[in-house]
Amino acid sequence: MKIFIDTADINEIREANDYGLIDGVTTNPSLIMKANKDGKNFKDIVSEILKTVNGPVSLEVVSEDSREMIDQAVKLHNLGNNAVIKVPMTLEGLKAMKTLKQKDIPVNTTLIFNPVQALLAAKNGAKFVSPFVGRLDDIGEDGMSIINQIKTIYANYDIKTEVLVASVRNPVHVLRAALMGADAITIPYDVIKKLALHPKTDEGLAKFMGDWKKVSPDGTLPL
Ligand code: G3P
Repeated sequence: MKIFIDTADINEIREANDYGLIDGVTTNPSLIMKANKDGKNFKDIVSEILKTVNGPVSLEVVSEDSREMIDQAVKLHNLGNNAVIKVPMTLEGLKAMKTLKQKDIPVNTTLIFNPVQALLAAKNGAKFVSPFVGRLDDIGEDGMSIINQIKTIYANYDIKTEVLVASVRNPVHVLRAALMGADAITIPYDVIKKLALHPKTDEGLAKFMGDWKKVSPDGTLPL
């Protein structure tokens, strides 16, 4: 399962990259706004991200008109060959996706909330679809259930579009995504850090270090 980090904060990206865990980055206008707190130039923010990771970096168009979406997508894709263009799952977005497929510009269809939307996006050539599971949980639905449904539909028709689980809130989303065979997941930095933690690991390591001190009082390995 590919792990993307869901942020536009270059420091978070660098730190997560150092763990050797991330295969790419996803951003959206709200994440750009958060990263833009000190008024940094948008092009500088995204160019730095594109240079920092080799994997796909999702950059979102900010128009609701298909022609403008296409124009923005071309400009965003020209910033780097690992740029993937986020297009919203709307009727205008479907028009844009069809043209971007013809232009061989990879699309990550975003703001997906049911399996039929994921089917339409795949039909119009999306490389990734981003079902927002956390926002469905937020309104009392089981967001992860649509991942299974999308995977079933895609398997029925041998669809190669990748399911990129988005709007992730906790490690259980990551566990369930992996159990369901999601192709990828995009995770906020604070959740990424939680994935490796377990109190029994901490407890066991403390015991090992304590016992080692009885062998080597200064704690070193005498080699
Ligand atoms: O970036 C797309 C998605 O992961 C954002 O989800 O619900 O945390 O804003 P959310």
